[in-house]
Amino acid sequence: MPSVHLNSVSRRFGDFAAVKDVTAVIPDGAFVTLLGPSGCGKTTTLRMIAGLESNTGGVISIGDSTVSDPARGIFLPPEKRNAGMVFQSYAIWPHMTVFDNVAYPLRLRRLSRQEVHAKTMRALDLVKMSAYAERPAPLLSGGQQQRVAIARAIAFEPSVLLFDEPLSNLDAKLRDEMRIELRALQQRLAITTVFVTHDQEEAMALSDRIIVMRQGAILQNDTPEGIYFRPAPLNVAEFCTNSTIIPATVISSEAGRDSRILEVQGDGWSGRVQASDHVAQGRPVSVIVRAESIRVDASPVHAVDQQEISWRGRVEKNVFRGSRRTLIVRVGDTAFTVDAAPENDVGVDRDVTLSVTLGDTWSIPAATTSARTEAA
Ligand SMILES: Nc1ncnc2c1ncn2[C@@H]1O[C@H](COP(=O)(O)OP(=O)(O)O)[C@@H](O)[C@H]1O
Ligand SMILES: [Mg+2]
Repeated sequence: MPSVHLNSVSRRFGDFAAVKDVTAVIPDGAFVTLLGPSGCGKTTTLRMIAGLESNTGGVISIGDSTVSDPARGIFLPPEKRNAGMVFQSYAIWPHMTVFDNVAYPLRLRRLSRQEVHAKTMRALDLVKMSAYAERPAPLLSGGQQQRVAIARAIAFEPSVLLFDEPLSNLDAKLRDEMRIELRALQQRLAITTVFVTHDQEEAMALSDRIIVMRQGAILQNDTPEGIYFRPAPLNVAEFCTNSTIIPATVISSEAGRDSRILEVQGDGWSGRVQASDHVAQGRPVSVIVRAESIRVDASPVHAVDQQEISWRGRVEKNVFRGSRRTLIVRVGDTAFTVDAAPENDVGVDRDVTLSVTLGDTWSIPAATTSARTEAA
C-alpha cells in the first residue's frame, strides 16, 4: 500500500485560506486521523487527497505518483487516485439493494460478473453484512448502513481509505463498537487510512498517529500518547485533554530521564514539572495537569515531596457522572477540574488538598504558546 504525502498543501477560497501550508506523511498502511474543531480544514484536506477538491498550492502524492501539483498543472481526477471514501451521511443509495450498493463501484470499473460477485461478497463478509445482501438499503439501521458504506469503499481494493466523520451519526454505544470494528478491519487490510473527526476520544481509540489541526494549520502530528501526555502547543492540551492550565515561572531546569525537569514557582505554590526542552530561568510556563491525574483528599497539604505538587483549595462544584465524579476546585485564580473516583464524594464548599505527581505534569513555555496562538 502506498503512503500519502502532503507537501506545503494549501487551499484558498477567494481571500480565505481554509488550509495553510500543511506538510505531513501518512505512512504506508497507517491509520492517521485529522483531529480538530469544526471549520479547521479537515474535510477540505481529505477532499484534496481524494481529488474532490483541488489544492491551490503545494504537492500531493500517493505512493510514487504526484496526484496534484498546481504549479506544474498536474491534477489527477478522483477515479485515477484509487481512494475509497466514507462520509458522515452514509450516502448509500436507497433505491438499491445492499449488494447493488457495494457492487456499484466494481461495475463502474467494468469488472466481470463473477469478479463483481466475489469482491462484493468478500467486502460484505468483512463488515459482517453478507446475510443482508438482498435487503433494500432503506430497511437497514444506521450502523448497518454505515457498514454497507464501508464495504462499498473497500470493495474495489483501494490503495487509500478516506473517512470523513463516518461514526458521528451513530448513537454512543454503537459508535464505540464500530470504532473497534473499524480499527480491526483496517489492521487486517493494512490499507493506508486518513480519518477525520472532531472527537478526541475517537481519534485516540483509532489512530497510529493524530494530526491536530486548527484554523487550517497543523498544531501537532504525533502518536495518541504523544498528543495526550506531551501536548504542544497549549491549544492541543485544551482541545485534546481535560486539563487545568496553571501559570508559573521557571526557577531552574535539569535533565530528567526522558524529559526536562523544571523547578517552577506559581502563585502560592512551587514544585517540579516535566517539559520537553530546557526553559531559561525567569521564563513563564503554562503547567498542564490532566483532570484524571489529580488526587483529592481532605487532609492538609502533604509534606513537601520532590515528586509531588499539592494545592489547598475549596470545592465549588461536585458532579456525579457514573464512571467518575467531576469536581471544580478553586485555588486562588485557578479553577481546577478534577476527575475523582465516583465514590469520592467530598461535598461542596469544603477545603481539600489536590496533588499531582511529577510524572503526570507537563509544561510549555508560555511565550512560545502565545506567539503561536497569534500566528494561528
Ligand atoms: N467551497 C467552499 N467555499 C468557501 N469556503 C469553504 C468552502 N469549503 C470549505 N470552506 C471553509 O473552509 C473552512 C474549512 O472547512 P472544512 O474543511 O469543511 O472544515 P472541517 O471539516 O474541519 O469542519 C471553513 O471555514 C469553511 O467554511
Ligand atoms: Mg468536516
